[in-house]
Amino acid sequence: MKGVILAGGLGSRLYPLTKVTNKHLLPVYNKPMIYYPLETLVKTGIKDIMVITGGTSSGDFLRLLENGREFGLEHLTYAYQEGEKGIAHALALAEHFAAGEKIVVILGDNIIEKDISKEVEIFSKQEKGARIILKEVDDPQRFGVAEIREGKIVKIIEKPSIPPSRFAVIGIYMYDNQVFDFIKTLKPSARGELEITDVNNMYIEKGQMTYGILDGWWTDAGTFESLLKANILVAKQRGKK
Ligand code: DAU
Repeated sequence: MKGVILAGGLGSRLYPLTKVTNKHLLPVYNKPMIYYPLETLVKTGIKDIMVITGGTSSGDFLRLLENGREFGLEHLTYAYQEGEKGIAHALALAEHFAAGEKIVVILGDNIIEKDISKEVEIFSKQEKGARIILKEVDDPQRFGVAEIREGKIVKIIEKPSIPPSRFAVIGIYMYDNQVFDFIKTLKPSARGELEITDVNNMYIEKGQMTYGILDGWWTDAGTFESLLKANILVAKQRGKK
């Protein structure tokens, strides 16, 4: 299995912090943000990772992460997303890299407390399809939200004003190679992006989506509030060790 970190986009919700740098290079407590999703993937045993960046600071990722050896990686590959056309648009750039293998995708601004190795192991045994991870939250309207009936996800709704549940879809997605064919059929959403939620709904419609519930805390770090929250959560966790 291979890993993909999506670190493109403009980070416009963090302006002016993102005026001269990429959101994923900003500090979260004692490390650049991108370290956290990278370490999340490394802890699952994945050794072959692609980082997809964009914007004007993309060269800085190479200077920061180099060839990935510091993280114990065998290969660290980079791709460049032109424009900010959505998560699924960025992921399409990984098709050649994936080369038919299953992939674990993580959003560059998603930080979690614990290890997801068990989830990845379950997916490695799944014959085909996709697997996502849900987390119960107090503010589901900020995320993709799962509508669950009789223990099955029937639909995911992106940033619903009336959430069908409190289960947010976190930014860690496991896919088989069909994902790239699904992305090719997508049309831009009302916000002008190719939505990962549309891709996930395609797997759900085919009856090929499974899910797990995340253990431990999770946060994104894409707004001032969530960036502050991420800093505090990481600082507290370090304090406990
Ligand atoms: O954090 C989890 C949420 O992430 C999910 O619950 C939502 O379903 C999903 O759509 C996404 O929501 P956001 O609107 O918060 O995503 P955002 O636009 O902040 O992008 C998240 C990351 O994805 C960002 O840190 C880098 C990557 N990205 C995003 C865009 C729009 C790219 O690489 N390229 C892009 O064009």
